[in-house]
Amino acid sequence: MRKTITTLTLAALTMIQPAFAQDVRAGEETYERYCAACHGPGGTGHGPMRAVLTLHPTDLTALRLNTGGYFPLERVIRRIDGRDPLVAHGSPMPIYGGFFEGRGVAIKTETGEIMLTSQPVIDLVAYLQSLQQP
Ligand code: HEC
Repeated sequence: MRKTITTLTLAALTMIQPAFAQDVRAGEETYERYCAACHGPGGTGHGPMRAVLTLHPTDLTALRLNTGGYFPLERVIRRIDGRDPLVAHGSPMPIYGGFFEGRGVAIKTETGEIMLTSQPVIDLVAYLQSLQQP
């Protein structure tokens, strides 16, 4: 019995890839495809959809500035992968489901906790981090 559990644990651990490889270029492509219509090219919140939205898209280049110096990784990941309940309750932001749903990649959040998410999400986050104003 114990052996089975150990084997299963090992199998589960090896399925989780550490998030060393965040591909900013892939993240940019995902951003342009799924986010730019609202958040605008470059993330400042001025996409073509802005005009028809009563709640204006957030300026994603100011995420770090607005927290006073750290990138709110956990909050951003939850928004994108739909875990944030706000997404289901009144945010104009679409729920993407499938594409961002995987939990095969681990990333360390700003509090040092490990969060499981998907490769497209961590690539996207790497791109968003690259957009942050100083
Ligand atoms: C249909 C328009 C629309 C699309 C598409 C969209 N967003 Fe948003 N987003 C919004 C609006 C409007 C807000 C502000 C209201 C809110 O927070 O719900 C927002 C808020 C956010 C926030 C919250 C910022 C904060 O300070 O917590 C993040 C992060 C975000 N969007 C990232 C993204 C990413 C990444 C994508 C692409 C995967 C995306 N959005 C696609 C409209 C959109």
